[in-house]
Amino acid sequence: MPADQIASRPSGGQSAVLAVPAARPLTDAGMDAVRAQFPALSREHDGRSYVYLDGPGGTQVPRGTIDAMVGYLARFNANHEGAFPTSEESDAMLAEVHAAAADYLGAADAGEIVFGQNMTTLTFALSRAVGRTLKHGDEVVVTRLDHDANVAPWLALQEERGVRVRWVGVHEEDCTLDMDGLERALGPRTRLVAVGLASNAVGTLNPVPRIVEMAHAAGALTYVDAVHAAPHVPLDVASLGTDFLVCSPYKFFGPHLGLLYGRRDVLEGLDAYKVRPATSELPGKWETGTPPGESLAGLLATFGYLEWLGATFGPGGSGGGSGAATTRRARLRAAMGVIGATERGLARRALTALGGVPGLRLRGMVDPNRLAERVPTFAFTLAGHSPREVATELGRRGIAVWDGDYYAYELIRALRLAESGGMVRVGFVHYNTAAEIDRLVEALAEITGRSSAVKGEA
Ligand SMILES: Cc1ncc(COP(=O)(O)O)c(C=O)c1O
Repeated sequence: MPADQIASRPSGGQSAVLAVPAARPLTDAGMDAVRAQFPALSREHDGRSYVYLDGPGGTQVPRGTIDAMVGYLARFNANHEGAFPTSEESDAMLAEVHAAAADYLGAADAGEIVFGQNMTTLTFALSRAVGRTLKHGDEVVVTRLDHDANVAPWLALQEERGVRVRWVGVHEEDCTLDMDGLERALGPRTRLVAVGLASNAVGTLNPVPRIVEMAHAAGALTYVDAVHAAPHVPLDVASLGTDFLVCSPYKFFGPHLGLLYGRRDVLEGLDAYKVRPATSELPGKWETGTPPGESLAGLLATFGYLEWLGATFGPGGSGGGSGAATTRRARLRAAMGVIGATERGLARRALTALGGVPGLRLRGMVDPNRLAERVPTFAFTLAGHSPREVATELGRRGIAVWDGDYYAYELIRALRLAESGGMVRVGFVHYNTAAEIDRLVEALAEITGRSSAVKGEA
């Protein structure tokens, strides 16, 4: 195995990776109010509620988001920059959703916000533009903990531009990044470091502020994949210090879209692939073709949902706390505080409960004292059952989970799990409940119990 693939010892001990606003978890009444916002959560399966543990693949959306999408199509569906009311209304909404996303990410201005089809498509576009500036022998750094959407676009530059790709491995014991390996990978030719904020397989939060510092000290740009982190932690491009950050609204309670932040001077300095009449102003220069109006209207309503969550259950809200959030950014951050506090309770319970299932092996951080270094996404194998078998059995019981590699292509291979079907992944978001964890664990016990009974009979 290459030395950069699995490092020998865990880095351990890095404290909370990101500053999370203090908040209380949702109470039972708060959880009921939250769940009531999501129509999909009332779906049933064989007379029991359906359990969505597939959040890492895409979350459910609040009613307001659905209504806003329908409302857009019903009332002001129009292409942009027309001289008539529906186009003007649509353009006003587009400006507002850029401003809201800037508040969500802590960007300096709405011009730094670029929407696209999804994170992968945005990253291919951006990496092609960065590639135009690179010379033979320049280097980019990628990691074995990342989703392939933050790896493959940079790998392609090897062939296209003669760029050298340097890899950062992971510590097998706890699935943290090998920071010493990162240090070694950086050098005078490093032009860009691509890294994830959270692993979509095992939930590790990477120390991105430090990684950005190290990359900048080497004179490199940073491209942070925050897709998996976004539903769990507050995002703040200023305190992360990153040049780029990407996420996907469909993973944080919005419609299917991609969202990219780029520092103004960097976005302005790069050449975009665009049609000749397209504007060279930000963000239009990077937003190719006609914008998906209904999805963006939906996203604006998703931000509205998060503001409601923060205003109601964060500090000063009617659901508890002691000082109202007065700006959109403050309400959005307050929401992430509530989400974080709620999820920590779920993560603790899930770790204990999954740890008690016979034959179940969790990968990644399993120490309940390190919850600040992870998000509540857990990947495991179950002895005697392929991940697909487990996912299918859970699916039959109305519990949606993923199996396979979920495009955490390098990690699953580094852990030598590709041949055996990867791992089962369960992901919790703030609308999941303790009762759902109990349902999951009961179902897993049934699956393992049934197999021991069958073995016993044999
Ligand atoms: C961490 C991470 N990065 C990138 C992606 C790709 O996102 P998109 O589907 O928006 O292209 C995903 C999707 O699962 C992801 O989990």
